[in-house]
Order: sequence, then C-alpha cells, then structure tokens
Amino acid sequence: MSPLISLLASTPNGLRGTLWMPPRASTAAGDTDGLFYFIYYLCAFFFILIVGVTLLFIFKYRRKRSNQRTSPIEGNQRLEIIWAVIPAILLVVIFLWGFRGYLGLAVPPAEAIDVRVTAQKWSWTFDYPKLGVSGATELIVPEGRAVKLTMSSRDVIHSFYVPAFRVKKDVIPNRYSVLWFEATERGTYDVMCAEYCGTGHSKMITHVKVVNPGEFEDWAKSGGGGPPDGAKLFAAKGCVACHSLTKDRRGLPGPPLAGKYGSTETFADGSQLKIDDNYIRESVTQPMAKVVKGFTPVMPTFKGQLNDAQIGALIDFIKTLK
Ligand code: CUA
Repeated sequence: MSPLISLLASTPNGLRGTLWMPPRASTAAGDTDGLFYFIYYLCAFFFILIVGVTLLFIFKYRRKRSNQRTSPIEGNQRLEIIWAVIPAILLVVIFLWGFRGYLGLAVPPAEAIDVRVTAQKWSWTFDYPKLGVSGATELIVPEGRAVKLTMSSRDVIHSFYVPAFRVKKDVIPNRYSVLWFEATERGTYDVMCAEYCGTGHSKMITHVKVVNPGEFEDWAKSGGGGPPDGAKLFAAKGCVACHSLTKDRRGLPGPPLAGKYGSTETFADGSQLKIDDNYIRESVTQPMAKVVKGFTPVMPTFKGQLNDAQIGALIDFIKTLK
C-alpha cells in the first residue's frame, strides 16, 4: 500500500490513526469510525456522480444552434421517485446506525469504575471515591474495564473530550453530566477541553493513561502514585495559563512568579507584605483576599481542588523560581 493510501484508509486496528482520525483506543471508536467512513464515502460517491453527470450534461445538451429551442419536458415520475426514495433510505440507515451508537454511549454499564471529574478554568481534577484516590491531575484507567465519569464544572461550561476514545461531553456548572468508555489499548492519550472557556482554553489539556489492571490496582493502593510534584501540578492545574515562570509577565493575566518568594509585594489596597508560604496558600484558596496592585482580580479559587500536600508542593515549586 502506498503511504497516501494507508493514510486515507482505515487500518484494521486503527492504532496509528488515519488522515481523518486519531488512534482508536476504546470500544466506541470502531462504531464511530465505521459510521464516519460510511458517510464520508457516500458523500464522495454522490459528489463524483452528481458533478460528473452535471459536466456531462453541460457538454451533451449545450445549445448547438442559435435558433435551437429547449425540449418541452415537464417531469419524469419514475426518476423523481428514484431520487427521493434512495436518499430517504440512506438517511434512515445513517439515523439508525447513529442512534444505536448513541444509545450505547448513553448508558454506562453497572460494573463501571466510578470517577468524578471536576473542570475549572483551566484544569481537570479526577477523584476516585470508591478507591480513595483524590485530586489526581491525570485520568488513570485500566485496560478493558468500563469507566464512568460523573462530571461537573466549578465555573463556566467546559467539554471533556478524548479524541482517541471518540467521546466528548459538555461539563456544566450546577449539574452532573455522565460519560463512559472502555479503553482497549494501553497508552497515553490527550484529554482536551472542547468548549471555549476563556484565555486558557487551549491550555486546558491533560492525559488519560491506560494501564494494565494490575498496574491500576497498585496505583490505586498507593493512593494515586506517590507524593505530589509541584512543577507537574503547576502545569496540570492550569496555573501556567496565567502566571509566567520568569520575571517577565509575557502578557499573561496574573503576576509573574520568578523571584517572588521572599520579596515584598504591594497590594491593590496599598498594603504590603513579604511573600511567604502563608501568602501563597491564601492566594490559592482565597485569591481575592490580597490582589497584587495593577492586576485584575480574575483568579478562580482552588479551595477543595488541592489537598494540603499538593499546596505544599506548589509552594516548594514557586520557591525554586529564581
Ligand atoms: Cu475549558 Cu475550554
């Protein structure tokens, strides 16, 4: 197969992805791709047919003499029935195919692993209430088991999207939305926000890691994989969307953080304070308490989103920024 053909065609397991589709890593992906390619090739077929016949007729029935008159054709019932019935059947096939897939995605299996997903500007948090893991910044799931996500947002509308799983659903404040999948291939896949939610929307990215069931159990038993890492949290929690790690603000909405620890800061009300652990902790949980002079108070609170160990790791990370 030529490289172009292999890019265009859907490979048997879809592992590498195609020109149109990312790798295929969940049980829902096959059905979604099948319907996508059915509609795609159907459109391509009719496009070529209709444009081809149009071009042919333009040539065949062109006016050949200046006094030539149009043929007096008023209609053709047989032709009209054919071009109404065939597309109608095709549309019903597309509807039934899509509806069957929709029902499969709408009802999570009873034995699914429960994960709570919290979205906020501009990060994702994953809690596993029955496994005692909370505050994970990446979604870790076992291969070959159904996972049910119960999702809500702390601020605006976001949308949870895993292209490799072919699943996407809006995440809305004051309401739970449910999404489920069963991963079929081990690996790391992108999780994106698919609903414009402000400045940091394009940085609202994390990963879903599909591991084997034994690894998943070990991970859950360890409470979610060892001590928190401040640098990773800083990226995963979306802090990067607003705070530069250098002394230069770089056009971002929040104060740059390099060299801030231990320095004296002036606040909107004119008061001053030396930046220490307590100030950082307060700013993370109550961002409106002491807003730095010259900055708009737009930071969302991370209260309840970060546990003590995670806040400690963030403070230690900010200390290292010189
Ligand atoms: Cu969250 Cu876009």
